[in-house]
Amino acid sequence: MKAVILHGGQGTRLRPLTHTGPKQLIKIAGKPISQWVLEQIRDAGIHDIVVVLGDNMPNKVIEYYGDGSRLGVNITYVYQGKARGLADAVYRVKDVVKDDKFIVYLGDNIVNYDLRKFASFDSNASILLARVQDPSRFGVAVIKEGKVVKLVEKPKERISDLAIVGVYGFDENVFDIIEGLRPSWRGELEITDAIQGLIDRGLRVSYEIVDGWWKDTGTPRDILEANAILLDTRVSRHIAEDAKVINSSIEGRVFVGGNSVIENSTIRGPTYIGGNTIIKNSYIGPYTSIGDGCEIENSEIEHSVILDNVKIMGGVYLMDSLIGNNVTIRKGNRWNMLIVGENSWLTL
Ligand code: G1P
Repeated sequence: MKAVILHGGQGTRLRPLTHTGPKQLIKIAGKPISQWVLEQIRDAGIHDIVVVLGDNMPNKVIEYYGDGSRLGVNITYVYQGKARGLADAVYRVKDVVKDDKFIVYLGDNIVNYDLRKFASFDSNASILLARVQDPSRFGVAVIKEGKVVKLVEKPKERISDLAIVGVYGFDENVFDIIEGLRPSWRGELEITDAIQGLIDRGLRVSYEIVDGWWKDTGTPRDILEANAILLDTRVSRHIAEDAKVINSSIEGRVFVGGNSVIENSTIRGPTYIGGNTIIKNSYIGPYTSIGDGCEIENSEIEHSVILDNVKIMGGVYLMDSLIGNNVTIRKGNRWNMLIVGENSWLTL
């Protein structure tokens, strides 16, 4: 069986971070979102992975993953080009998956679910559902007597609180249906409509309900929540042997990567600190991820995601913030929800 990771989309709600790369490559808790997806697929025993690339700097995805061997998988790339919807992206893998069943995982979703179990579906298609507070943000499914009877993308009326999670299973029937699809009101070929098409044709669509967490990382708030979830569930306390901890307190589940230096500081977990990072005279609070090669001095950071090679130099207090690669913040103040794109220099 092959698994397909969809890696397209413009990520407009995550600008300016997505001006310099696809949203799925934003690193949280030490890894790009799509790498959490890829490793979950690999750990479920699926090693043949097809990555569908969009038009927002697809080369960065190829540069990062290569042929997949570094992560123990075999990756084939397929270009979608201009985004025309998830169903269009799925159609692009027709010649690669041939007649086999396959699963599709949106590269910006993370979900705590047993993929091995999900991938063993014996119907024509399978969907994963989760109960949500605000179904209007998602596709939803109406279930009657144990059967999926209706699917609606971004419903205006509350017809169900079961949202469609971004993980699907299909057999080859889906390609035929996609060929007959028309663009939705948002101008996209919807995967939700394709699954409705399978139901309308009398084919069998099974479903499973997620009992744990699920996050679609479309907005900065979602990224921070996904970061918190991953830090809570996937990161354990680990201080690299060659990391230096000088006159500091490291409390709880804190990951400190190789060659990093923590001096005169307090780090309170769950927190992830990458390799070759220096933290001096600072406080790093719970639910923070700091990337590789960063320098944080005389500052306080809480519930934030700081990407790689970031310098935060003094008197800065950041909360609920997302800071892109290679950013320098030289002088500070108190900020909530600060979002800074790659390669920026600023004095707050
Ligand atoms: C897409 C799907 C939607 C699904 C969601 C999950 O929405 O169209 O049915 O519930 O992913 O993340 P989009 O991200 O395109 O708004």
